[in-house]
Amino acid sequence: MTRLSAGMGTSHVPGLGAAIDNSITDEPYWQPVFEGLVPLRAWHEKNVPDVVIIVYNDHATSFSLDRYASFTLGVAEWFQPADEGWGPRPVPVIEGHPKLAWHLVESLILNEFDMAVAGSLDVDHGLTVPLSIAYDQPKAWPTKVIPLCVNVIQYPQPTPLRCYKLGQALREAVESFEQDLSVAIWGTGGLSHQLGGERAGVVNPEFDNRFLDNLVQDPLANTRLTHTDFIREAGCEGIEMIMWNVMRGALDEKVNEAYRFYHIPVSATAYGAIILENET
Ligand code: DHB
Ligand code: FE
Repeated sequence: MTRLSAGMGTSHVPGLGAAIDNSITDEPYWQPVFEGLVPLRAWHEKNVPDVVIIVYNDHATSFSLDRYASFTLGVAEWFQPADEGWGPRPVPVIEGHPKLAWHLVESLILNEFDMAVAGSLDVDHGLTVPLSIAYDQPKAWPTKVIPLCVNVIQYPQPTPLRCYKLGQALREAVESFEQDLSVAIWGTGGLSHQLGGERAGVVNPEFDNRFLDNLVQDPLANTRLTHTDFIREAGCEGIEMIMWNVMRGALDEKVNEAYRFYHIPVSATAYGAIILENET
């Protein structure tokens, strides 16, 4: 039976990818961040799944505002790193798992989650930076990837509760796959940040840490937050945190917290990462 046994939440700040790509991770600004990631990377070295579902958002790179879906699954064989304006990141091409991806599409739609399906999809920093955070700069990524893109860009975004319920349905979908695979799920984005406007640079450690605590102890509390709560407390782009609810919904009610890290600033954001393991 295919098992989903662990989840990670991580911010996907593009500057982290640029620091890796330009080999400046030991400069004073970046050193404490990458030092904090040492145990995260050690965990990933020991826990490489066959497939990881990366719940991420596209930043108006491959999707445009005149055509947008709430939830999109990537069913391609390969996904290219996207050109976000200065050439694609120099990272390996991402290998998909079409068979499992199509099974997820079928299972989710028959379970009342009407996914959009992407037969080709260039993936931006929202997906490639978490891979670099976990695996650094390998010649090839050690795991296959199924991209699950969530609309956090264009109103109306899916609710935090809907995201959690999608995670629950994903768990069921994964665990009904006929093959014997190990699957992990990552939620990306956040934590508190706002990149433009009057409140550009806003961060909120209290809100972020409560969100992280809730992920472990009371995940439903994070589903009761509204979009306005996220935007007011965590800045406009803090709404990316709803994608962590998809990850959390796919795990057991009780989880083991294997790792947590929180650091300000990374770019204009509060960086956060957590690894949660199912106990069953
Ligand atoms: C930045 C961009 C992001 O998409 C994000 O989630 C955090 C930070 C940035 O440009 O710094
Ligand atoms: Fe983002």
